[in-house]
Amino acid sequence: MSDEIKNIQVTIDNITIDVAPGTTILNAARQIGGDVTPPAMCYYSKLEGSGGKCRTCLVEVAAGSTADPRPMPKLVASCRTTVMDGMVVKNMTSEKVPEARAGVVEFLLLNHPLDCPICDQAGECHLQDLGYDHGKEGTRYQFTRRTFKKEDIGPYIQLHMTRCILCYRCTYVADQLTNKRVHGIVDRGDHAAISTYISKAIDNDFSGNMIDVCPVGALTDKTFRFKNRVWFTKPVDAHINCTTPGCCGKATLWLRGEEVFRVTARKDEWGEVQSYDGKPGWICNTCRFETKKTESWTIEGVTTISRHSVIGANKYNTTLVKPNETVKKVMKGVEPKLLMDIHSVSGVNNPNVHLSDINGPAHSDDFKK
Ligand code: SF4
Ligand code: FES
Repeated sequence: MSDEIKNIQVTIDNITIDVAPGTTILNAARQIGGDVTPPAMCYYSKLEGSGGKCRTCLVEVAAGSTADPRPMPKLVASCRTTVMDGMVVKNMTSEKVPEARAGVVEFLLLNHPLDCPICDQAGECHLQDLGYDHGKEGTRYQFTRRTFKKEDIGPYIQLHMTRCILCYRCTYVADQLTNKRVHGIVDRGDHAAISTYISKAIDNDFSGNMIDVCPVGALTDKTFRFKNRVWFTKPVDAHINCTTPGCCGKATLWLRGEEVFRVTARKDEWGEVQSYDGKPGWICNTCRFETKKTESWTIEGVTTISRHSVIGANKYNTTLVKPNETVKKVMKGVEPKLLMDIHSVSGVNNPNVHLSDINGPAHSDDFKK
C-alpha cells in the first residue's frame, strides 16, 4: 500500500483547490490569495499556538464535507478550523460574514482610541485597515473606556496598553524566541492587560520582534516613534553579516534620504515576517536598534510595497521618473524668476540635523543648534 498522503479538496468563494490534510481554512485561503483570504489579527503562522483570540477571521461553512455536506450552524474561526474533503467555505461571498466582522471590529474598537492621526502605527496598522473595511460610523458603547498610562517596558519598547487588542502575539514571541519571558497578560476579562512585573524589564536580544508582530500601535519602537510618518520614508531591502545566533540579518531599512530611521524584519503579503530556508526571518536587537548607518548594510533594492498601501504612495516605481518642468507651460511661456528650495530656507528642515540621532521626538530646540 502506498504511504502517500492524499490531498483534499476545498472550495472557498467558488474557487476549488487541493490542500494537504490538516490545513486550516485560513491557510487554504492564503494559498488562493487576494480578497478570498480572511483578515487575521491574532493568528501568526510563525508563532505556535497563535490564533483563536480575535474572531476577525470568521467565515461561513456552507458544506462541512463530502461525507456530511450539512452547513455548520455558526460562523467559524478560519485560523483554527481545519478543512475537510469537499468542504465549501464562503468568505467574500457570504451574506453573514460582513455583518459578523463589522460586529467584531466594533468590539475591538470598544476601548481602542481612534487616535490614528497621532499613532505611530498609522499607515501600517491592521486594525486601521480593518476599521476602514468593516468599521461602522459610530459606537453603541456607553461606558467609560479603559485607559492606561504609557509604559516603558524595556530600553527600546514602549507599551501603550490603551491600544492593545490582546492578541497574545507578543507573548508568543517572548515565549518562543527569547530565553526569558518577563511580560504577559495579567488579570482577566475586562481587566486583562499586557504588563511586566518588574518595570522596564524587557531587554533580551530578540524582544524587538514583538514590535513587528503587534498588529496595532500598542508596542512601538522608541528609537523611531514620532520621528517620521511611515509613508514619508522609503523602505529598502538590505542585509548584514550578523553573528547573533538566530538573527537572519535580512531587514528592511526605512530611509529618509540617506538616513536610516527604522530597521524592521522583512514582511510578507500577510504582514508576517518572511521566511528564509524554511525558518522565520527574525532579526536581533543589535540589527534593529543599533545598526542605523546605511554603510553598515548591503542594500539590495527598493522593497516591493503593495500599490494599495499608503506606504507605497508615490513609490511603487522602482526607478525615479522626473516629471516634466511645467511652470513655463502653465504660465503661458513666462519663465519663473526664482524657484526656492524650501529645505534650504526652513530652519525646521535643517538638513544637518539627523532626526534619527535625536533621543525622543524632535523639538524645535533641536534645530537651533
Ligand atoms: S501588545 Fe500588541 S502584540 Fe501584544 S497582545 Fe497587545 S496587540 Fe497583541
Ligand atoms: S485570526 Fe482567527 S481568531 Fe484571530
